[in-house]
Amino acid sequence: MQLSRRKLTGIAAVAVSAATVVAVSTSAIASSSHSRVPSDSLRALASKIGLRVGNAVNMDLLNVNATYTGIVANQFNTVTPENVMKWDAIEPTQGQLNFGPADALVKFAQQHGQLVRGHTLMWHNQIPSWLTTGVSNGTITNAQLRNILKQHITDEVTHFKGKIWQWDVANEFFTDSNPSMINPNDFWISHLGTGIIADAFRWAHAADPHALLFYNDYNIAGEDGSNAKADAVYAMVTQLKKQGVPIDGVGDQGHLDTQYGFSGTRMRDDLQRYANAGFRVAITEADVRTFVNNSTDQVPTDNLALFAQPYEFDQMMKACLAVRQCISFTIWDVNDSNSWVPGVFAGEGYATLYDVNYQPKQAYTDLQVDLAGAAFGAPHRVGDSHFH
Ligand code: G3I
Repeated sequence: MQLSRRKLTGIAAVAVSAATVVAVSTSAIASSSHSRVPSDSLRALASKIGLRVGNAVNMDLLNVNATYTGIVANQFNTVTPENVMKWDAIEPTQGQLNFGPADALVKFAQQHGQLVRGHTLMWHNQIPSWLTTGVSNGTITNAQLRNILKQHITDEVTHFKGKIWQWDVANEFFTDSNPSMINPNDFWISHLGTGIIADAFRWAHAADPHALLFYNDYNIAGEDGSNAKADAVYAMVTQLKKQGVPIDGVGDQGHLDTQYGFSGTRMRDDLQRYANAGFRVAITEADVRTFVNNSTDQVPTDNLALFAQPYEFDQMMKACLAVRQCISFTIWDVNDSNSWVPGVFAGEGYATLYDVNYQPKQAYTDLQVDLAGAAFGAPHRVGDSHFH
């Protein structure tokens, strides 16, 4: 069924006016830790309940594109480097560390009252080519690889000591199968064994004892339907904690696609399960992709996606809001034209809160309404004296 554009516009108008009411009613009382931040921004509303709302920042655009930079500064109170803290960016040539772009992001964050999520210390992707080449041609042995990894984690965490709020220490180690398990074919696991995950946390903790150390992965809060991956990750993190490994949190990336089912209540329950086991939790890379006309304009081809896309964002935010230990909600990429999605999923896009022209979409409004509701609650009903 195709909804007519007129109907859609009408529904959108109702939703927007609801948001306007929230914005107007909160603007008089909302305040923010940062003076130029609008009182109805995501960050100002989230800060009312101690939640950090963030985005993945592309350092090719920050301080280059004014619109992009303004949104990052005004809407978010935590930032994640999209790429510049990954190993291939930090050490493109062995032994020559390049912290420049990452330092620039940390400086921006400090100037704008934002906390930084460090991303990511150990992942199978975006490893420098000198390392993968050396391992595959045998000039780097497994014993040397272990020392090189330890050095990398120690160097990077030490460089940013005291400046990183949460580190994604280990990223995407589990299979997508049912049952799920630590992937035996993962680059790190196949060379160094499963014990390397605990060691990575120990090395990071030794370098910065105050940073919150996270295990980060996708589909680990019920998104796979079976809950198999969430169960496997839960088993690992609880075992690590029992063994005294310094692990503080679990990050669920939250990369959704409107063509698959998704249960916000299951996400809430899975987040709460990690929380009940003593972990902080975070939504670390939220986006919701759908099929679009082309990668330039990114107009959804199914009108119902205009409802499904913001709905799934809203459900993720509500899941986070329901869990006290959910301390941050990060969106992966600022707007649709800068999203990683069209480059990876052919025919898909429209995954972020802002369109290709940097205009806020319904998903932005829905998160704003969710946060305003959490910050201020619903207004108390008008009384009727006859019945009291
Ligand atoms: O740096 C090179 C540059 O030198 C070269 O000219 C250019 C040509 O394509 O490529 C540049 O590298 C790109 C890199 O981003 C930096 O811009 C890579 O091709 C590109 O593949 C890479 O994509 C990133 C992707 O991780 C890599 O796996 C995305 O921007 C980034 O959004 C994405 O983020 C990941 C999270 O870290 C982990 N979870 C999944 C998420 C989405 O894939």
